[in-house]
Amino acid sequence: MHVPSCSSRLSERRAPTALSPMVLLLGACKGPMSALAPAGKDAERIAILFWWMAGGSALVWLAVMMLAIYAIRSRRHDRRKTYLFVIGGGAVFPFVVLTVLLAFGLSQVPALLAEGESEAPNITVIGEQWWWRVRYRWPDGTGFETANELRVPVHQRITLRLRSRDVIHSFWVPSLAGKVDLIPGRTNSLSLEPTRTGTYRGICAEYCGASHAKMMFHLVVLEQPEFEKWVQQQRTEARAPDRKSEGARLFRKHGCGACHTVRGTSASGSVGPDLTHVGSREALGAGVLANDEAGFRTWLTSVHQLKPEVHMPHFSILPSSDLDVLTRYLEHLQ
Ligand code: CUA
Repeated sequence: MHVPSCSSRLSERRAPTALSPMVLLLGACKGPMSALAPAGKDAERIAILFWWMAGGSALVWLAVMMLAIYAIRSRRHDRRKTYLFVIGGGAVFPFVVLTVLLAFGLSQVPALLAEGESEAPNITVIGEQWWWRVRYRWPDGTGFETANELRVPVHQRITLRLRSRDVIHSFWVPSLAGKVDLIPGRTNSLSLEPTRTGTYRGICAEYCGASHAKMMFHLVVLEQPEFEKWVQQQRTEARAPDRKSEGARLFRKHGCGACHTVRGTSASGSVGPDLTHVGSREALGAGVLANDEAGFRTWLTSVHQLKPEVHMPHFSILPSSDLDVLTRYLEHLQ
């Protein structure tokens, strides 16, 4: 049996402590939620702006430090030089640096506000405590609703309409664009233009109640043909074989249809997320659980532990056999 020596145990313990700030700093630069690893035109502009601001701040900090060192070291200060330092270093230098940064920052605004040319599809995101209702609509009036997930084609500028049904939320996918608030009673917009395919994570960036930190979503960027395929699949009703299944019967019996819609069945509630294709989504409960049978079961029995103050009742009172059938039914709603 290998017994680590005292010193090796100590160094093992010290290493993560010393490394952690570095790991945290480097870890923040990539991943599906990093503003510094842009996957969209707007995020690229914001990242460039960040580096300009960081550079400008570093320049000001260096100048101030040099002046401080000079002030401490030099014994005698002649009056002319003192004035030069106060006016030059205290007024002219910051004025020039801040003006350049402000001008650069403002020059980026029109491009960030530019809206997409095509209105097809028209995508509306509605923030609710604590999930995202997503509506896709075409000019002919057809469309579908999904939840906690957006899919968009790559290299197209898309303008999202943002609304809220209760309190202020904030829509933010750091890899793709800046954040915009969803405010009750008004419609805001946010444009994004993905440059890379992939799955990116978004989050609510405005405190909106007990489960604010559990209000995540996925934004999936697809090539145009894959996007069209996904749209076709989303437009269809829930898979036919499941309509008369035991799962569908229990879904009705336990009243799930009062809050949720499963298109193609009698379930047509609109309080909670549309579950027509819930099994095909990236995650469950707005990014809280993995999308599999175990995830559905955990959601049904422990929803209040997972998401404090959520409106959905928990179903831990159901017999285990009913839970098995229900979770299988939900997971098969692909
Ligand atoms: Cu919604 Cu925070």
